Amino acid sequence: MDDELKLQAFESRIGAGETIEPKDWMPEGYRRQLIRMISQHAHSEIVGMLPEGNWITRAPSLRRKMILLAKVQDEAGHGLYLYSAAETLGVERQELTEQLLSGKAKYSSIFNYPTLSWADMGTIGWFVDGAAIVNQTMLAKCSYGPYARANLRICKEESFHKKQGYEIITALAGGTPEQKMMAQDAVNRWWKPSLMMFGPGDKDSPNSAELMKWKIKLKGNEELRQRFIDLTVPQAQAVGLTLPDPELRYNNETGHWNYGELDWKEFFEVISGRGPYNRERLKARKEARRNGEWVRIAAEAYAEKRRMLA
Ligand code: 3HC
Repeated sequence: MDDELKLQAFESRIGAGETIEPKDWMPEGYRRQLIRMISQHAHSEIVGMLPEGNWITRAPSLRRKMILLAKVQDEAGHGLYLYSAAETLGVERQELTEQLLSGKAKYSSIFNYPTLSWADMGTIGWFVDGAAIVNQTMLAKCSYGPYARANLRICKEESFHKKQGYEIITALAGGTPEQKMMAQDAVNRWWKPSLMMFGPGDKDSPNSAELMKWKIKLKGNEELRQRFIDLTVPQAQAVGLTLPDPELRYNNETGHWNYGELDWKEFFEVISGRGPYNRERLKARKEARRNGEWVRIAAEAYAEKRRMLA
């Protein structure tokens, strides 16, 4: 079959809702989009360990510390499932890691903001993991089997992450006036960056049309952002916190919450490497890579020895 016929057959499989597996024929554009998206997602999980890792030693109780440790460890696991899913498309994890460390690869904008107080741990779980769930429950139904399956498992764990975050915030919001103020301050700082995690509006999203045609994405950025807002506003009301947007208003006609303009200039600065914490995040990843060098050398020597003895 020539490529044109293969493409037709591929697109009719997508149209019929079939899942594409690694050994199936796929157009280069499909492979390229998946590698881009899955690797950015994997890097986000790995870099995403840093802002919370920063608070493990300062968690306010042993219980909180154990939960946070487990959460950060889960993010490492998510990174591993995702790098493995990317490898099924013919790219090496080593190459992807180098792209991250050289600053060539993108990862989620949200992790380029600092975590200033314990309440940030609650807000990240509530907003950031909450936003990730909205996005990734959709990706768990995407057309590429290994990515869909990785997201299914990730979402189960993210749902625990979101609950632990909301639980921290509920405790702080119902605590002393100082604790409530700390929770409100974290909410004020994280709300808009969390909304920008969904990416630019649909008309400024160059990849969406192709991704939706191939059912990698099933919904646009804007629709998912709106869903997250609609879910989160009542949660904020329930704990007596205010979302920092004077234009937030329920629209009886649409059944959705209207919200104010986001700062897209800030977003594009952040994803171009010029956000508040981009340099610190990459520096920490590079240091971790250097510090782990001896482990990689030892593991390779051990594997080599076993091969020789076999
Ligand atoms: N952060 C960084 N870059 C972003 C971004 C964000 N929040 N949103 C968009 N971009 C980038 C895109 O990667 C694209 O750049 P590129 O063409 O150079 O790769 C550009 O901005 C234009 O955006 P598009 O809307 O055209 O890009 P997409 O169609 O790919 O949509 C996306 C962006 C919604 C992030 C989509 O790629 C996606 O769903 N990715 C998979 C999920 C993911 O990566 N999630 C990370 C969340 S963090 C997380 O899960 C960790 C957990 O611990 C909470």
